[in-house]
Amino acid sequence: MDDPTQAAPSQRPGDASVDPTVTLHVCVNCLAGADRDTSPRPGARLHQALLEAQQQQDQPPRVRIVAAECLSNCNRGCSAALSGAGRWSYVYGDLTEAAAAELLAGAGQYAATDDGLVPWRERPTIFRKGVIARIPPPPQPA
Ligand code: FES
Repeated sequence: MDDPTQAAPSQRPGDASVDPTVTLHVCVNCLAGADRDTSPRPGARLHQALLEAQQQQDQPPRVRIVAAECLSNCNRGCSAALSGAGRWSYVYGDLTEAAAAELLAGAGQYAATDDGLVPWRERPTIFRKGVIARIPPPPQPA
């Protein structure tokens, strides 16, 4: 699916100026089929589960976990988006708090790349099945 030859590089791999930390935005409003009055919402529970999973890691985090209000993927929530400087960005859906560790591991794989392109077979199942969209990095100014 992903073709590295089609990448629109904005920062070259190995460029020391590339921010190694990536951002995982997590929609805390997602209901994932739950009643509107559900509290905390499934999206908020996923966000909390990710924070707790990250606290159990030994290494300094390379993934910023940031709450978002809505990622316009409400029909396939819970939703999250991965982005990082010079990298392709991804939107994922159909996530659950039970997948927090897998999601965090996948975000770590993404952070370890310079361009955001983790080989398809190495991606967690939730990334392969739950990908909604990918967005190329912005082009570098001429
Ligand atoms: S409410 Fe979560 S994507 Fe819209």
